[in-house]
Amino acid sequence: MTAPALLHIDRLSVTFAGSPRPAVDNVSVQVAAGERVGIVGESGSGKSTTALAALRLLNETQVGYGSESRIEVGGRDILRLAESELTELRGSTASMVFQDPSSSLNPVFKAGHQVRDVIAAHRPGKRADHRTAALEALTAAGIPDAERVYGCYPFQLSGGLRQRVVIAMAIACSPALLVADEPTSALDATVQAEVLATFDRLCRERGTSLLLISHDIGVVARMCERVYVMSQGVVVEHGSTDSVINRPEHEYTRTLVAAARHREGRTRQTRLTK
Ligand SMILES: Nc1ncnc2c1ncn2[C@@H]1O[C@H](COP(=O)(O)OP(=O)(O)OP(=O)(O)O)[C@@H](O)[C@H]1O
Ligand SMILES: [Mg+2]
Repeated sequence: MTAPALLHIDRLSVTFAGSPRPAVDNVSVQVAAGERVGIVGESGSGKSTTALAALRLLNETQVGYGSESRIEVGGRDILRLAESELTELRGSTASMVFQDPSSSLNPVFKAGHQVRDVIAAHRPGKRADHRTAALEALTAAGIPDAERVYGCYPFQLSGGLRQRVVIAMAIACSPALLVADEPTSALDATVQAEVLATFDRLCRERGTSLLLISHDIGVVARMCERVYVMSQGVVVEHGSTDSVINRPEHEYTRTLVAAARHREGRTRQTRLTK
């Protein structure tokens, strides 16, 4: 990797209150500017804990970090930032897309207003300018009739459109890094492919870095240049997506790849090659 890391997670250990062992143990993950990196692993392997820690979104009344843990985003040591600095960083430098759009959208506000409010929180200016920028973000997120969607409440939109609104909120302030935790797992296969294509286009057009979390190594194969494989809170293997998939070194990775190939044979929807 030649470019300096935009996200640098170093020896991250996270222990939830009341748990005898860390949920994530000594995990190091790097994402360079413009790079797309995946994290795969089974349920409970620590993917979301790592992703949330990357933006310091874990509830800190419930977690403890290991004394060696460091997380840098855009060169800033985020475990030492004040809440106001973190709020500024989230959205403008790095932002997050979660699996379930309902958890990111407020049901009582119109979709467009929620995108507009994210922009207003980060950028001074007139309400009309924020509205225009929100419409641009909705369009960039792959919504053809942005004006209509702008005025809809979340319940009036399909799951795919809701997730696109969340993506619009995430990209509205042009962050250098998108962290997406299972962003398409709640969507059906066709919509999933369309939303992944949108991420692909956004990253290419804007040079945005992507940290994509998925339990599906097929999704990561399509989207990412490098991949980290997690099992039981640790990274068991990492490397270029091509080498990890075609020449897995760890037994656990072999099992993941075999399961994905089996699915591929069955459904023809998972492609382990680009
Ligand atoms: N809020 C919490 N309180 C206590 N334990 C938690 C909490 N969140 C996660 N854990 C535990 O931490 C471990 C890692 O969970 P995490 O959600 O990071 O896994 P994951 O890889 O994202 O799984 P999934 O694929 O199901 O989303 C699990 O053992 C989980 O039970
Ligand atoms: Mg998770």
